[in-house]
Amino acid sequence: MMHIEEKFGRSINTQNQAEIEQLAYKYLDALTLEEKVRFMQGDLPLFPHIIAMGIHYNSRPLPVGKIKRLGIPPFGFSDGPRGIVMANSTCFPVSMARGATFDVDLEERIGNAIGIEGRTQGADFFGGVCINLLRHPAWGRAQETYGEDQFHLGEMGSALTRGVQKHMMACAKHYALNSMENMRFKVDVSIDERTLREIYLPHFKKCVDAGIAAFMSAYNQVNGHYCGENYHLLTEILKKEWGFEGFVVSDFIWGVYDGQKAIKAGLDVEMPFQLKMKPKKIMEWIRSGVLAEERINDSVLRILKQKLRFLRDEEPEFYSRSKIACQEHTNLALEAALKSMVLLQNTNNILPLNSEKIQKIAVLGQLADSKNIGDHGSSRVYPPYVVTPLMGIQNYFGYSKVLYENGSNLTKARTIAQEADAVIIVVGYDYHIEGEYMMGKAGDRDFLTLKSSDEQLITEIASINKNIIVVMEGGSAIIVENWKDKAACIIMAWYPGMEGGNALAQLLFGEVNFSGKLPFMVPKSADQLPYFDKNAKAITYEYYHGYRLTDKKGRTPAYPFGFGLSYTTFSYGNLHVKNTRIDKSGILEVSVDISNNGNIAGDEIIQLYLGYPESNVDRVVKELKAFTRINLSPNETKTIKLSVPVKETAYYDVDLKSWIVESGRCEVYVGSCSDIRSLMKSEFTIE
Ligand code: BGC
Repeated sequence: MMHIEEKFGRSINTQNQAEIEQLAYKYLDALTLEEKVRFMQGDLPLFPHIIAMGIHYNSRPLPVGKIKRLGIPPFGFSDGPRGIVMANSTCFPVSMARGATFDVDLEERIGNAIGIEGRTQGADFFGGVCINLLRHPAWGRAQETYGEDQFHLGEMGSALTRGVQKHMMACAKHYALNSMENMRFKVDVSIDERTLREIYLPHFKKCVDAGIAAFMSAYNQVNGHYCGENYHLLTEILKKEWGFEGFVVSDFIWGVYDGQKAIKAGLDVEMPFQLKMKPKKIMEWIRSGVLAEERINDSVLRILKQKLRFLRDEEPEFYSRSKIACQEHTNLALEAALKSMVLLQNTNNILPLNSEKIQKIAVLGQLADSKNIGDHGSSRVYPPYVVTPLMGIQNYFGYSKVLYENGSNLTKARTIAQEADAVIIVVGYDYHIEGEYMMGKAGDRDFLTLKSSDEQLITEIASINKNIIVVMEGGSAIIVENWKDKAACIIMAWYPGMEGGNALAQLLFGEVNFSGKLPFMVPKSADQLPYFDKNAKAITYEYYHGYRLTDKKGRTPAYPFGFGLSYTTFSYGNLHVKNTRIDKSGILEVSVDISNNGNIAGDEIIQLYLGYPESNVDRVVKELKAFTRINLSPNETKTIKLSVPVKETAYYDVDLKSWIVESGRCEVYVGSCSDIRSLMKSEFTIE
């Protein structure tokens, strides 16, 4: 057996690919077969894990792949994505809220903070880059992802990856097509190869390109094979075609059914402990020749390389416990909440509230004083404090001037609404209504509207006070048609994190301008959505969903993808396509002038969509291909440049098994939301 001189420790500290490779092979050679197969399961025995689940799940990092003899440390798993799930960490707004910021720089800074808080608590593997596509708003875990559009998902997920990986490994999940919850352990998702490649996978590929260390396979089946045992997804696409050099872990406990099939398909680690990939079994399979040792070597090398890549010199002062939920990180949570809330309606410019003119505000609703920061499943974060909407408004406006009733006493609610100059009603969902499906609780939503009691409260109060401001909390689209004409203002506040209440108050009073935009379209009714059945054991994911579907069918949603109001108005002009004839390897370059026409500053999210009218195959009307976020002072105009590599226009040809960039005319749309009537239009030709 080979002798290893280097201690496998942070002192290795190398980013040199060749050195990492060399060291990984050296360690591989030094490992016995018994040791190699011990890399392939979580280390925690079943019993303590179950006890820990009952108390505070993942309160400590879950260890994987420790080899004591050679001093190889385990990697320590900690979940997300709204922060580190271990003790007292910063709770950011949920990913869907962060999706509404369209702010990749902010997402990278959030990733950086998450990475620091994870490392500080002894973790070095963050399981929270959740980038499943929002196909339907009823999906219980919608809050954990960024939205319905694959380009936007890829931009946000890779930004989080870059930030986290300054400190620890990141893991993209749930690969793939995990867009429904209650039947996640069983459902077989059928999908044709083109839809798979174009709609459901590009964002995962973008995380590979960003250098992500790991992937987590999903629970569900895709075309008849569980994702953890799916050779096409794990080996053919992820490892071979995309050249992914990291490792794949299973989703927890129910992620593997047939251990041998899983390993052959390309799964590297069973999480969080051994069930179907027991070391003894793996050794038997190798010895009897049904499983090649090469495949085990490949898994071990992948894990070793990532472990080596993320070994950094210890910096005890940098990773000190004072960093957990420190001021800098809670400020970041506030910034994210401020940038994420979406103003959907503002009749007669009721907002912003003028704190000098208003004497009394009524705050009503079940969620007004609730620490409603999201699901209580595996993504639950335990921050040291949470500012509720009521607390935020009281802090800002003064305790004595805020009247409060949670809404269960309608008579009292009516009385205080009568006394108040403005009424804020906070309603929506919480972890009982949507979230991870566990022991018959939460899961996919049963309805897409507000609860009837919430709608009743809005209707009752609207008959007394015309200035009602409805603040909705929730993880994805809420249908508002039953009552939207009764409310003066509507705000989508998401699950806004530990600083959510402060952010809401600053926005309501105009201290900060609204700038969030919807990362999905809100339908008028369920028939604008794809088919969904939360009990389905089999389902087909079609090519069209979200704004692509309403565009195609010529339907008008309640609110389009990318929509959100501001306290100022922006206008677009001088859309200019620099190069109107571009070859297939070229880059489309576009410039546009954006002006702030109001007298307050504001952020605008500029969106660029492409359409392919001359395509020989069925294509979307248009799709998002670039976005950016800018700040404009009153009366300021900026010229913004956006670019798109022409290869991004490709469709996937199933027969040729390759991406095809077609020649012909392409439409370019630029503007402030996906409503085609509001967008400026130009074109270019691919030669
Ligand atoms: C969830 C994953 C999570 C894992 C570990 C599973 O139930 O689906 O998203 O990372 O638990 O917490």
